[in-house]
Amino acid sequence: CGIVGVVGKAARNIILNGLTNLEYRGYDSAGIYLNDLKGHEYLTKAVGRISSLKEKLTPDEDGLVGIGHTRWATHGKPTIDNAHPHFDETKRFYLVHNGVIENYTELKDKYLQGVKFHSDTDTEVIVQLISKIARDKNLDAFTAFKETLKLVRGSYAFLLVDDQEPDHVFIAKNKSPMMLGLGDGFNIIASDAISVLDQTKTFVSLEDGDVGDITKDSYTIETIEGERVEREPKVLDIDPNAASKGTYEHYMLKEIDEQPGVMRHISQTYLDDAGNTKVNPEIVNAISKADRLYIFAAGTSYHAGLVGKALFEHYTGIPTEVGYASEAGYHFPMMSKNPFFIFLTQSGETADSRVVLKETNKRGIPSLTMTNVEGSTLSREATYTMLLGAGPEIAVASTKAYTAQVAVQAVLAKALGEKLGVKAAQEWNLHHDLAIAAEGIQQLVDGKEKLKEIADKYLIKSRNAFYIGRGIDHAVALEAALKLKEVSYIQTEGFAAAELKHGTISLIENGTPVIALINDPVTAELTRGNIQEVVSRGANIVTIVSKKFANSTDDIVLPEINYYMSALLTVIPAQLLAYYASRDKGLDVDKPRNLAKSVTVE
Ligand code: G6P
Repeated sequence: CGIVGVVGKAARNIILNGLTNLEYRGYDSAGIYLNDLKGHEYLTKAVGRISSLKEKLTPDEDGLVGIGHTRWATHGKPTIDNAHPHFDETKRFYLVHNGVIENYTELKDKYLQGVKFHSDTDTEVIVQLISKIARDKNLDAFTAFKETLKLVRGSYAFLLVDDQEPDHVFIAKNKSPMMLGLGDGFNIIASDAISVLDQTKTFVSLEDGDVGDITKDSYTIETIEGERVEREPKVLDIDPNAASKGTYEHYMLKEIDEQPGVMRHISQTYLDDAGNTKVNPEIVNAISKADRLYIFAAGTSYHAGLVGKALFEHYTGIPTEVGYASEAGYHFPMMSKNPFFIFLTQSGETADSRVVLKETNKRGIPSLTMTNVEGSTLSREATYTMLLGAGPEIAVASTKAYTAQVAVQAVLAKALGEKLGVKAAQEWNLHHDLAIAAEGIQQLVDGKEKLKEIADKYLIKSRNAFYIGRGIDHAVALEAALKLKEVSYIQTEGFAAAELKHGTISLIENGTPVIALINDPVTAELTRGNIQEVVSRGANIVTIVSKKFANSTDDIVLPEINYYMSALLTVIPAQLLAYYASRDKGLDVDKPRNLAKSVTVE
């Protein structure tokens, strides 16, 4: 979910714009509370996008204080009643929330018997409890808020307004992200800085356990126990235009097209002209002591980690494990003697990954976060950070962050392998490979028409599809399948090419699309055999093949590149197929149903 609060300035449009920018965090319903400080207050909610909320607001509904929310449903269906802001029985307090309250049923049973509820959400329990504690103990809002938080277990970024002192917004943060922006005569609170960058560039990063009282010209941050804490503002150096769609119809295509530039940028950032790596030596030093690397991530980042495993093992000789963060958090893997943890996360906010990092820190294991977002939670909390520098990724389906993660892992593998004296790393011309990747991606995106044709011919009418490949192509097949299914709703599986025959081949029927990836020199011929197995059962086969192994019948020929870097090229046609399948089915490419770009609940 995404939240925005404003105090001291016409709030409605700032909140609506901010929420629109935060739709990547969820977009199944939205709501806004506004107070004009002259005794008028407005609460408006809508199911669906921020645009539906906008349509419901009448022009005179504005305020000098306001809080808004865009929701990704966890507790309770996306309905008007379940949309935020929530309020108490007496309609005095209004609350928006990003996170999950673990003990809300317990709190409800213990303290709120007989109270009338209007929603099924965990959030309403909190606002009702604040109100009850304020009434029973005769406390002001800030004190009642802190008393409530002492009873709450879970993750939250909360914004609270009390209509008895409406010129304040009270805030609290635990695990869910929240930034405080400082303006001239107004202040603003949001889930991330970039969503309100048109208002200010000066931000205070809030930490877990922070509660605050924000007015138009002051901010007080305390612990829940009421001790003052100092949080220094920082001026952020982000280009607000980087997040605009320009002439593109969709962010997804814009971001696919940006990948050659991302490769060049990574090359410039992490390599000098002679091709030497420029990685913080402390990082390389710390990892060089490891006897095993553990990569944790979710979704597309997890798939980038699978490619990372191949890179690290080949170029550094260090055994590498890759796991789903959501699994490792509560079933921690068995540790080697000197482990080193790498977190891959575009947003730097994924709650599942953060659970693993917390445990890693508790055990004193050194760690590195590779992320696209400077100052993000996982970046702040890991021992080290390497930035992807892919620029803001807005489409929910990740594209350029994936290729950036592969490339930055390659840089780290080279730096580490050289430090460890591994010949493969010393002899590796990564500078050249990144240049080839940039050119190759350019060539592939320039040929996007062909992929549109394939998507229209084979995919858009199909209920299901398969990607197959071996080695790194298997890792890419998993990502390719995720991309296609998440944006086109075609049920797609990524498979190790030879595994298909051990069961799943029974799903192949006349016309089932099977997309085969072939880059691995060792298994190229064998994969051709696997293709024949599905062709003879009626599959429509599409081949994406490295020039080295291509013949005249192949559909997409990939420019030649070092096998260990091949994911950077193989994934591009897959991204484009997903894009066109979604677009030509008339779907919402950038915001597929049920998803959120950054998931800050476990
Ligand atoms: C969400 C997104 C995925 C993304 C995953 C991990 O589920 O929908 O596209 O890959 O989170 O996100 P991260 O920011 O940690 O890379």
